[in-house]
Amino acid sequence: MMIRKMTNDDISSVSMLDSKAFNRPWSEQMFCDEIKKDYAYYFVCEMDGKIVGYAGIWCIYETAELMRIGVLPTYQGRGIGKQLMDEIGACAKSQGCERMMLEVRKSNEKARKLYEKDGFSEISVRKGYYDGEDAIIMERVYK
Ligand SMILES: CC(C)(COP(=O)(O)OP(=O)(O)OC[C@H]1O[C@@H](n2cnc3c(N)ncnc32)[C@H](O)[C@@H]1OP(=O)(O)O)[C@@H](O)C(=O)NCCC(=O)NCCS
Repeated sequence: MMIRKMTNDDISSVSMLDSKAFNRPWSEQMFCDEIKKDYAYYFVCEMDGKIVGYAGIWCIYETAELMRIGVLPTYQGRGIGKQLMDEIGACAKSQGCERMMLEVRKSNEKARKLYEKDGFSEISVRKGYYDGEDAIIMERVYK
C-alpha cells in the first residue's frame, strides 16, 4: 500500500472510485478544480497499481477541513481509511494547522467511527443540513 499526492493523471480513476463510494459523486471537473487550489491537499492510496482510496483537506490558517475521504467498497475495512486519516493529519500539522474540522451525516456510522478512532469529537450539530438529515460537526485538536 502506498499513499502519495493526487495528480491530474489520477482524476479519472479517483472519479470512478468516488462514484462507487458516494451516492452523490463529484465530477472529474470538480476534482480538477479542487487539486488546483493552493490550500488543498489531496492524497491517493494505491495498491497493486490501482487507486483504492483518496482523501483531501483544505488548510486555511490554523484550521484544516476534511473535504472528502473515500475507499473503494471492495477495499473497505482493511485499514485504508485509517492510513489516509494519518496522512492528512500529518499534512495538516506540517502546514501549521492546530485543528481539523469535518462534517458527517448522522447516519454514516462507518465514517463516524473512523473519525472517533482518529481522535475527533463531536462539537455541534447542523440540523437538517443534508437534505433534512443532521450533519455532525467534529473536531480534532493537535497538541
Ligand atoms: C468511511 C470510509 C472512508 C472508511 O474507510 P475504511 O478503509 O473502510 O476504514 P478502515 O478499514 O481504516 O477502518 C477504520 C475504522 O472505521 C470504522 N469502520 C470501518 N468499517 C466499518 C463498518 N463496516 N462498520 C462500522 N465501523 C467501521 C471502524 O472503527 C474501523 O476501525 P477498526 O477496524 O479498528 O474497528 C469508507 O467506509 C468509505 O469510503 N465510505 C464511503 C464514503 C464515505 O462515507 N466517506 C466519508 C464521508 S466524507
